[in-house]
Amino acid sequence: MKRVFIISIIITIFLPFAQADEGMWLPYLLKQLNEKDMQSKGLRISADDIYSINQGSLKDAVVLFGGGCTGEIVSDQGLLLTNHHCGYGRIQAHSSLEHDYLTNGFWAMNKSEELPNPGFTVTMLISMSDITAEVLKDVTETMSETERNKIIEKNSKQIIEKATEGTHYRATVKSIYNGNQYLLFVNEVFEDIRLVGAPPSSVGKHGGDTDNWMWPRHTGDFSVFRIYVGKDGKPAPYSKDNVPYKPKRHLSISVKGIEPNDFTFVFGYPGTTEQFLTSWAVELIQNQTNPIAINLRTQRLDVIKKYMQEDRLTRIQYAAKAASIANGWKKWIGENKGLIRLNTIEKKRTLEAEFTQWIAKDKTRQQTYGDILPQYEQLYRQTARLSKEDSYFREAVYSIEIVRFAWAFVPLVNLLGSAASADKIEEAINAHAGRIEGFFKDYNPTLDKEIFGLLMQSYYDNTDKSSFPPQTEKLLKSYKYNLKALADDIYSKSIFLQPDKLRSLLENKPAKIVSSLENDLLFRLIRPVFANYIQTIASELDRLETQIDSLNRLWTKALMEMQSDKTFYPDANLTLRVTYGKIDGYQPADGVSYKYYTTLKGIMEKEDPEIYDYAVDPKLKQLYLTKDYGRYAMSNGEMPVAFIATNHTTGGNSGSPVLNADGHLIGLNFDRCWEGTMSDIEYDADQCRNISVDIRYCLFIMDKFAGATHLVNEMTIVEN
Ligand code: ARG
Ligand code: GLU
Repeated sequence: MKRVFIISIIITIFLPFAQADEGMWLPYLLKQLNEKDMQSKGLRISADDIYSINQGSLKDAVVLFGGGCTGEIVSDQGLLLTNHHCGYGRIQAHSSLEHDYLTNGFWAMNKSEELPNPGFTVTMLISMSDITAEVLKDVTETMSETERNKIIEKNSKQIIEKATEGTHYRATVKSIYNGNQYLLFVNEVFEDIRLVGAPPSSVGKHGGDTDNWMWPRHTGDFSVFRIYVGKDGKPAPYSKDNVPYKPKRHLSISVKGIEPNDFTFVFGYPGTTEQFLTSWAVELIQNQTNPIAINLRTQRLDVIKKYMQEDRLTRIQYAAKAASIANGWKKWIGENKGLIRLNTIEKKRTLEAEFTQWIAKDKTRQQTYGDILPQYEQLYRQTARLSKEDSYFREAVYSIEIVRFAWAFVPLVNLLGSAASADKIEEAINAHAGRIEGFFKDYNPTLDKEIFGLLMQSYYDNTDKSSFPPQTEKLLKSYKYNLKALADDIYSKSIFLQPDKLRSLLENKPAKIVSSLENDLLFRLIRPVFANYIQTIASELDRLETQIDSLNRLWTKALMEMQSDKTFYPDANLTLRVTYGKIDGYQPADGVSYKYYTTLKGIMEKEDPEIYDYAVDPKLKQLYLTKDYGRYAMSNGEMPVAFIATNHTTGGNSGSPVLNADGHLIGLNFDRCWEGTMSDIEYDADQCRNISVDIRYCLFIMDKFAGATHLVNEMTIVEN
């Protein structure tokens, strides 16, 4: 009795609390792990107000937007906010030279003008729970990784079936702590999501790729959608008879404003963090993967930018593509700078040395964990060479648009040559024919040809010559290894560059399709290269990665045991998380100090009609000159645009609601500061800041700039 009592006291006293600002916490554990800490830092609501499966909570207003962003519901009619860059694909898909919504913005002035996006979904979490024991049932320590994965898959399937039985819900099982624990997520997936509004790019993408990942920032990075459901209130595919969704909960919006050190939290879907990487893994990223990708993307972007500047159509066609290429490129540059500045590799080595000492102190530890580090070293030595080939393959060969397009026909050729049923063949042919138009809508062959010449050359110069199988080698030789000459021939002769001819070909008998494609110059070039890549690089890397995964599981378990006084958050894995911190500026370099917010004045200061990224809409300027900000101004009369805080966020958190101590919406997360982009690997409280667009700026743009006041009227606006 007494002993139990003493133990419980010790547990309460030493129950480890999370350290400042770092961490992406599981909503269902907030009460247990974070509530006290959050409230001590200023939170005025309870963990149950944020996440509860028994009563309505903020979680009912937060959704996974598409497959990689977050959105939040802000009205009782299913109105949804997310970032402009998250809605970008949809906005672009509805854009053409006549209706250039990217450039001019789009506002539905009533529900009938809202634009459907068939195939696009948002996902809402119903519940999450720990199901580790059920998932690992029948798994033993001694079984192989393949066997283990088979059992886990089988168990997960059963769990998912049981969890969704008799409902329209969908469920997934995901592991956390590198496979040491498993969680079940039950979701509702909405399928009729309509575009309601988007500011012009000069607002929504202000600063473009020039300012991307940087502070100070002036991007009005938001767009507006609406969830529609069937008449029964349940998710349904697009139909004009669908009705706006009535959510269990929508967020209230605060126009009170923010002060330094105010408590804030971000509720959303962070994609990936990797806090448990070893020194070898970080070395590989910092010294090989990032530099290769940065170099190849620099070449690609230079070409794309040149063509975009010259031609308006190309600018529309490549806007989204360029943004996505540049986004990774710039992040990796920042990440490398951060890793070098923080000396992360050395810190990891020190931790590994500590670990070696820790296991040396205990025989059982030595037995269970003694092989981990030597095995890592060996596995990463093997991985390095293959990973280099892989990086070049992905960032060079596979990044050439026409190559990717043509490659998608390989499975078709294989299928047509097989004994597949006539139905299946017809279906496959139709699917391929159906993709042609979409591809060419956003394609510039002259631009792509230039990229082909550059990237293929890099691939040829930098990879193992065994990446070029004999057939390819012969073909290259016939061009005297002049890849530009080869590109000339491909881009003028290949059927993949002639949409009409390709379409007609697909109307022929399978044998004719196969023979024509197999004789095509581009097809002949890439088919063996891809086959070789799959056989000698990808499959071998997969094998090594499976071994590394299994080691990661053990390493994570061991580290958590060694540092048992620390509360570890599970790495981000695109599941709903809460991260919290405070509004705060930072010092990026000696002698430089950044304020925590920006205003409309900054947009005027940066204005440059010659530079696309810094163009200012005349209407916005007018509002600025007359200071016509309505209730959205700060107390000093200025118009806020963006702010930063110490929340630990990552890709996927884009569009996430940034909330104040009362759980009211104050902004939309959309980026991180450049000095902190290494936070997926190492978080640094001094330099890591998330960037949000101030909700008052979004409302101002909707209301005063776009005249979409009806949208603001739909929302619940509060002054606290
Ligand atoms: N860096 C932000 C994110 O990772 C914004 C990206 C979109 N903006 C851009 N200029 N490319 O998603
Ligand atoms: N822009 C990112 C996104 O799309 C968020 C920035 C980050 O990586 O933190 O999710």
